[in-house]
Amino acid sequence: MKSYLILVILLIIKASTIFAADYSYSGSTGPAFWGNINETCIKGENQSPIDIPYDEFIKFNKPDNVEFYNVNNVEIENKGHSIQISKNLNAKLKIGDNEYNLLQFHFHTPSEHRINGNYHDVEAHFVFVDKEGKLSVIGVFYDVSDQQSKFFDPIVSNIPNKNEKKSIEFIELSSVLEDINLMNTTYNYFGSLTTPPCTEGVIWWVAHPVQPIGKDQYLKLRDTMGFNSRYVQVRKGFVNNNL
Ligand SMILES: *[C@@H]1O[C@H](CO)[C@@H](O)[C@H](O)[C@H]1NC(C)=O
Ligand SMILES: *[C@@H]1O[C@H](CO)[C@@H](O)[C@H](O)[C@H]1NC(C)=O
Ligand SMILES: [Zn+2]
Repeated sequence: MKSYLILVILLIIKASTIFAADYSYSGSTGPAFWGNINETCIKGENQSPIDIPYDEFIKFNKPDNVEFYNVNNVEIENKGHSIQISKNLNAKLKIGDNEYNLLQFHFHTPSEHRINGNYHDVEAHFVFVDKEGKLSVIGVFYDVSDQQSKFFDPIVSNIPNKNEKKSIEFIELSSVLEDINLMNTTYNYFGSLTTPPCTEGVIWWVAHPVQPIGKDQYLKLRDTMGFNSRYVQVRKGFVNNNL
């Protein structure tokens, strides 16, 4: 009897820790409840993603320097909520005197940022970090097309099972920067992580133009991750007619 009671208590503790730490994209662990994990998700005033008016992209704005190199023997992880690539990456951003290095990149279906209220099929997030741990993220949009993406090819061909990792021999990372015209048209703002703990102080660069992704490439990504897009956040002091 006594050990049964202890078991029940242990199960309750275990269930509550899972509940507190985990998040999803619908229901009682969905974005509306992420404030239970960290209140920044609800009370933050510079949260991401946002809806960006198209005209804002026209304004020229880019980092002081940006470099992307092709990479070998990187790691791909199926995190359930997302597919993430990390290790042995080689890309840099310079903002003022601060140098940021590429830590990881991952994907969202559909896109998290919107343009004039419209979303795209995929958004890639290239997450950079400086030596003090400050974050800067480049967002790149993709729409389904007849054209295959050579960047996505090795990624969708090597998706591991859920919660597993694999190695990818080669990714043509430099093509990403060429495709977005060396970031000549990007929207720059201060925002947050789009997943709990929704930490603020993230320097965002949302790039244009939108890139093509092959239909099969897209379906492999989407069928693995499912819907993993946080709804757009209202910005303080920003009037948006589309909301
Ligand atoms: C991007 O801007 C640079 C100058 O910063 C210019 O040299 C280059 O031609 C532009 N590239 C494209 C594709 O627009
Ligand atoms: C919430 O996130 C912030 C960073 O945004 C962190 O400093 C804080 O410790 C977190 N709080 C909890 C309760 O996890
Ligand atoms: Zn992301």
